[in-house]
Amino acid sequence: MSSRITDLKTGPESVQLRLADGSYGEFHHIWLRDNCGCQKCRHPHTQERLFDLLTVPEDIQPAHAEIDGNGALKLIWPGDGHVSVFQPDWLRATCYAGDVSTETTTETISRVLWDASKIADIPEAKYGQVCADNGLFLDWLTALREWGVALLRYVPTDKHETLRFAERIGPARKTNFGTDWDVISMMNPNSNAYTDLPLMSHTDLPNWEIPPGYQLLHCLINEAGGGESILVDGFRVANELRTTAPDSFDLLTQIPLDFRFRDVDNDIHYRSPAIRLGSDGEITEIRFSIALMGALSVPGHLMAAVYRAHRRFAALLRQRRFELRFRLNAGDMMLFDNRRVLHGRTAFDASTGHRHLRGTFMDYDVLDSRIRILRQAMADSAAAGPKS
Ligand code: OGA
Ligand code: ZN
Ligand code: ZN
Repeated sequence: MSSRITDLKTGPESVQLRLADGSYGEFHHIWLRDNCGCQKCRHPHTQERLFDLLTVPEDIQPAHAEIDGNGALKLIWPGDGHVSVFQPDWLRATCYAGDVSTETTTETISRVLWDASKIADIPEAKYGQVCADNGLFLDWLTALREWGVALLRYVPTDKHETLRFAERIGPARKTNFGTDWDVISMMNPNSNAYTDLPLMSHTDLPNWEIPPGYQLLHCLINEAGGGESILVDGFRVANELRTTAPDSFDLLTQIPLDFRFRDVDNDIHYRSPAIRLGSDGEITEIRFSIALMGALSVPGHLMAAVYRAHRRFAALLRQRRFELRFRLNAGDMMLFDNRRVLHGRTAFDASTGHRHLRGTFMDYDVLDSRIRILRQAMADSAAAGPKS
């Protein structure tokens, strides 16, 4: 392999390696002992760690270190003479110090933020193609993660297909609405979604501690007048609020709002700010639902400012320049990041025809996992070469 180890130095705390391409990496002794991949240290089938870190001293040093005949790092540990061998590719992929050029192991999602002007660029694919071609499936799922939205066309209009397709990605997330559910206008609805009323742009289940990462809405029938779909990139709009009204933005990241859903069987209640930030101050989550927002409970001296902030954000979210508006037709499915992208619909007239969507949810982990598995499958088939 091109990344053979060519040079090895052992210091008091770490070994320093040079690889054939000239790059350099440092690996601490305790880290190497902890990450031994032999069958005693990792279960050969589960791949879970068996080694117990507390059985070795914190200042463990190898009794012997060498580059073996394959250009790998071989260490012999004191005491029981345990042998660890680290392949250069693995060291390269997990390198944490030095200038070794790694294939990126930490996935940063390069998000594409969008507004109404991008309607023609929204990622889309045909059902038959993503089902038949792993490469296309991978590209489309990756685009979904980056854009926070993707469309699928020509999906069979069978109500079981929503969940069946979702499960090609992975397990669906069950909620108080079930695993998959119908969006139709009905008598005695337990959600405004199950009426023919307009739905202002919202995120679903903000009243849960962890709202679902992705939502899939599959159109089975859309023969009623009205009922256009609306999508808004909440991160894009929150950025706009951050630049145009920073005080309001800050309040919405700090003041928890109450979100609550109630019906005969459930009373699901959670308090969270509308906008959540990560440790670098980047926007990581939007919770917004006028329908599910409970009575505000904030210190009295902040009430006016919180209302002002909430109204500003709500007004921006409703500006047409941020909205994608389109009609879902039978056989269309839209998938979106429910903690980033808000969705809504215009009113429809149930007396003019039937409208039936079917939906399901999925956690982020499930999509991320499918992307990794598909990438590995693509890499394996590329390494195997063309089939004879
Ligand atoms: C929902 C919803 C949108 C629609 O079911 O949560 O927002 O187009 N539906 O009916
Ligand atoms: Zn081992
Ligand atoms: Zn909804």
